[in-house]
Amino acid sequence: MTIDKQLSPKLSEQSLVQTSINPAVGRGYAHSKIILMGEHSVVYDFPAIALPFNKAKIEAIVTPSLSDHHILSSDYYHGVLVNAPEALANIIRAVTLTLESFKLPNLPLHISIQSTIPVGRGMGSSAAVVVAIVRAICDFYTFNISDYQLHFIVNQAEVIAHESTSGIDTLMASSSSPIIYRKSKQPVPFEFNVDAYLIVADSGQEGQTKEAVSKVRLLKEDKPSFVHNVMRSIGEFVLQAHEAIQNNDRIELGRLMTYNHYYLNQLEVSNTRLDRIVNAAWIAGALGAKLTGGGLGGCVIALAEDLESAQQIELAMRDAGAVQTWSMFLNGKD
Ligand code: PMV
Repeated sequence: MTIDKQLSPKLSEQSLVQTSINPAVGRGYAHSKIILMGEHSVVYDFPAIALPFNKAKIEAIVTPSLSDHHILSSDYYHGVLVNAPEALANIIRAVTLTLESFKLPNLPLHISIQSTIPVGRGMGSSAAVVVAIVRAICDFYTFNISDYQLHFIVNQAEVIAHESTSGIDTLMASSSSPIIYRKSKQPVPFEFNVDAYLIVADSGQEGQTKEAVSKVRLLKEDKPSFVHNVMRSIGEFVLQAHEAIQNNDRIELGRLMTYNHYYLNQLEVSNTRLDRIVNAAWIAGALGAKLTGGGLGGCVIALAEDLESAQQIELAMRDAGAVQTWSMFLNGKD
């Protein structure tokens, strides 16, 4: 298969870079991501804010394969890569694209994955696994991949994993900064220095991003002006939240997150399980709480003013059904 035609001139030019084979080991890392605000409306070109979330991450290790085939070794599947289940088609595509685009030697590789990112919870595990693997292959061949090239490969691979989306997931998998994003504009990275803790709670229920995106589309077809107004409001909250972050105003940020959840409810992408965890966070003193990502399952996020409050909120969210929680201080300056 030749893929040069699909590549931009910039990518093709850079694929001529010299590489050498490192017979030892290649390593690649990737983090999870959290959509702070603006999911769903971002599909219709309203703004959203997303952050890299380093508490859950993934490592890929590449070594020469002892067989004649590429081998994938993970909790989910162990065996010949090309025989992997359909759900891993994005990985097959990413490996093929990486080797062919950069004209790397096609030696049989053993790719092993260790991940603490729960699958299907809106934390970007699918795009992150691709990023980690592509980075590990490039490290193995001592090929210096640019962010642009990485983003291109992830985008191509993820087209298989999901139906057409806003692109925020694939962008975040390779971005090390928080971003404010609109589909039709360049993403804008920014510093996230708010004196507050972000808690992420896994509802234990697989998120249904594809179903939720199509549910919103159907609702929009049925009630166009209602849905447009909801999305326009969410877009305004996102811009106000961006301002609140720049002013280190955690109270305002929390308030806007809560409003965002209320409006996501209007789009019918929450469910009783998520609402129960959101309510528990509010009652335990969260400054704000909402679902994150596609919804109909997945994760809930909450904002806490200090560590003690964050710990209480985490407990309350677990009592309400969350199976796992993480928390992160949001002021990177400290
Ligand atoms: O992949 P998730 O569950 O984090 O959701 C992606 C966010 C959506 O706005 C629902 C879809 C999209 O492509 O932006």
